[in-house]
Amino acid sequence: MKQTDIKALAKEDVFKLIDNDWMLVTAGTEDHFNTMTASWGGIGILWNRPVAFLFIRPERYTHEFLEANERLSLSFFTEKYRKALQLCGSKSGRDMNKVEAAGLHPLNVADGVIGFDEARLTISCRKLFQTDMQPCNILDKEILERFYTGPHGGGYHTIYVAEIEGVYEK
Ligand SMILES: Cc1cc2nc3c(=O)[nH]c(=O)nc-3n(C[C@H](O)[C@H](O)[C@H](O)COP(=O)(O)O)c2cc1C
Repeated sequence: MKQTDIKALAKEDVFKLIDNDWMLVTAGTEDHFNTMTASWGGIGILWNRPVAFLFIRPERYTHEFLEANERLSLSFFTEKYRKALQLCGSKSGRDMNKVEAAGLHPLNVADGVIGFDEARLTISCRKLFQTDMQPCNILDKEILERFYTGPHGGGYHTIYVAEIEGVYEK
């Protein structure tokens, strides 16, 4: 894995990258980290800085690691790793060693940032801002019903805005 210019992101289709390819969101230390699949989020600009936006439900084990650590990584893979991402998005690190089961090999991407040897693209980030979604701020009530109540409901997401500090390619 080699560090590259942040401009390398310009050749990516962010819609495809996040919505279709998915990503692993990872936080923690070499000895104690967790990862999960995410397909909601974005890459953009805030406060004149390049940032990533993440939306993580509080019940995710990864949420604990995002809370406890300043830095995190976003890892993107080729289609070959679809099953690995499905596993990391359907099982909890509370219950099993997902990384091992998925056949992924963790590595230190930068100080305090864990990524994976298999990732084709890795983005390291530092948290700048976070807030918990409030139901009263969800303006489209269909979203409230569809994602936060009923059988598919869950906790209101924590929104994280994290500055992109490094971009790495395989
Ligand atoms: C394709 C896909 C996308 C997902 N996107 C998100 C997301 O953006 N935010 C979120 O909180 N959970 C998302 N999840 C669910 C978590 O990945 C899942 O609950 C995971 O098992 C959490 O693992 P953990 O408990 O080890 O953190 C997604 C799952 C899949 C399969």
